[in-house]
Amino acid sequence: MKRAQLQTTSREQTLALAAAFAQALKGGEIIFLRGPIGAGKTVFVKGIARALGLKSSPTSASFSLLKEYKNKHTRLFHIDLFRLEAGEVFNLGFEEMLEDEHAIILAEWPDPIARLLPTDRLEMNFILESKDTRTLELASFGRISDQLLEHLCQVAR
Ligand SMILES: Nc1ncnc2c1ncn2[C@@H]1O[C@H](COP(=O)(O)OP(=O)(O)OP(=O)(O)O)[C@@H](O)[C@H]1O
Ligand SMILES: [Mg+2]
Repeated sequence: MKRAQLQTTSREQTLALAAAFAQALKGGEIIFLRGPIGAGKTVFVKGIARALGLKSSPTSASFSLLKEYKNKHTRLFHIDLFRLEAGEVFNLGFEEMLEDEHAIILAEWPDPIARLLPTDRLEMNFILESKDTRTLELASFGRISDQLLEHLCQVAR
């Protein structure tokens, strides 16, 4: 396991960090985004999707829980399971996502689906310091996520 800590002082800086981070994504990465409401988790996900030139595409699941972004080469799933219980993740359309080992998965409020996903994942904890300042605590749990963490630290320098 590796750990690191970064700070951003504006929404734009978080978007720029996400865009730089996106360059390291090849497919198959899993990123958990934790932190309170308004911490910047969705800003970070949208920054990645935009940087990769992905377009949002309709999914069968309830649209607020699972959004799919894609282009010819890349498929990204943005999950937000706020207030969902673990027993409620079945029959919501996650099966297709779980079977695609090349998809990039970014999950806000990930606990209900955590045990269905591989353990090699990057955990990002967004801490609300002030109106525009966020501390990002990173922890990685395997070969793929260790590399991601290192890349994120390099681009943030
Ligand atoms: N440094 C920063 N990084 C990201 N967002 C910031 C920053 N400073 C201010 N903001 C603002 O904070 C808000 C973050 O909202 P966002 O929807 O990303 O939160 P969230 O963590 O996804 O919350 P939720 O749990 O409700 O989904 C936005 O309004 C954004 O403009
Ligand atoms: Mg959000």
